[in-house]
Amino acid sequence: MIKLHTDYVKKFIDQDINLYQDKVTQIHQGMLNKQTLGSDFLGWLNYDFNLQEINRIKKLHQKYANIDVLVVVGIGGSYLGAKAGIEFCQKPFNKEGIEIIFAGFNLSSSYHHALLTYLQNKDFCINVISKSGTTTEPAIAFRLLKKLAQEKYGDQAHERIFATTDQTKGALLSLANDNNYEKFVIPDNIGGRYSVFTAVGLLPFVFAGLDIDLMISGVKQAIKDFSEPIIAKNLAYQYALYRYCLYKKGYKIEMLVNYEPSLSFYAEWFKQLFAESEGKNNQALFVASANFSTDLHSIGQYIQEGPRFLFETVIQVAHTKSLLIPKESSDLDGLNYIANKDLAYVNNQALHGALKAHTDGLVPNIIIQIDQLDSYNFGYLSYFFMRSCALSAYLLEVNPFDQPGVEAYKTNMFKLLGKK
Ligand code: PA5
Repeated sequence: MIKLHTDYVKKFIDQDINLYQDKVTQIHQGMLNKQTLGSDFLGWLNYDFNLQEINRIKKLHQKYANIDVLVVVGIGGSYLGAKAGIEFCQKPFNKEGIEIIFAGFNLSSSYHHALLTYLQNKDFCINVISKSGTTTEPAIAFRLLKKLAQEKYGDQAHERIFATTDQTKGALLSLANDNNYEKFVIPDNIGGRYSVFTAVGLLPFVFAGLDIDLMISGVKQAIKDFSEPIIAKNLAYQYALYRYCLYKKGYKIEMLVNYEPSLSFYAEWFKQLFAESEGKNNQALFVASANFSTDLHSIGQYIQEGPRFLFETVIQVAHTKSLLIPKESSDLDGLNYIANKDLAYVNNQALHGALKAHTDGLVPNIIIQIDQLDSYNFGYLSYFFMRSCALSAYLLEVNPFDQPGVEAYKTNMFKLLGKK
């Protein structure tokens, strides 16, 4: 469940979001009837979980439960959600079980050199993920890792390679078929950045030890809660409309703010979702992120006193671990005034302090409160954002599911590399 607090945004917009009901109803119906732009990619709307495939993932995990490392190779939508989900749900230190390492999301020779060296003495498997099967970064990383696996495991190497890709086409599918890799499917009707609850995310999640059944129940609950066309009853649509109204009022930057380090990478997933879905036709909010309270000591200055064109969307976690601040007889650091107070309480006061300072400084704030950092809330919140994002893009009259703009750099790079 989430709570959406909008008291700190309403005074910055002069519109009642409910006035958009007709437009929202039209978009909502359009999505259901597959009459909106890019409607071939609306498969995530009612995620149809493939139980057979999920069981296969769990069995594969049992078979390789004792490996040291799973290397997950992918970029963009074939990477960000899995990493975000693992960081969201796992404790930061003393991780037990299989280490999940990501590769293929950059072209750094230093990174991949270090990874290959690190893996020399590790027992590892590879999960290569690419819907198109032709993306340069993961394809290069996979070549390098496959070579190491072949050197290390010889004829058995192929058993340790799992390919997550399109069901019927693409270079990775051909490679998987030719080499007998275990295959998992990215459905045709789900694009990269909406694919975290397919095998793209679920396989890494299972190997990382996350409770995916709980996660799926979070997604299913969110599907129920955010399938309501009436704005007043649909928090995902309300969030999309507040963003849209702020954008129209001249706020051009949305900063996703967290007070928990486990949410820092979640912002990367969020940024891809919104930026790639909305940033077309020279319009849309620019999505940025900040980690508080650390960034209150750096970009906090800019937020407080820089140009007034940004607003904050704060993710607040209602329940975190309890940790009392010790009392000291000398009180040399002057902290005894909060001795025996919970650190979570102090973090929350930092949130309220920043909220008041920033809104007094004319920075609108939207607060999204989640219950706790677990796989249920990851499922629920991520679906909330997907649903909001689709409506947001349709309000801007762009296709939420394509990304024509990312081709430009590729074309130049291929030309420079001499690709035929
Ligand atoms: O959201 C998207 O569609 C993109 O970010 C892709 O996921 C990304 O480009 C990787 O593509 P692929 O899975 O085809 O390698």
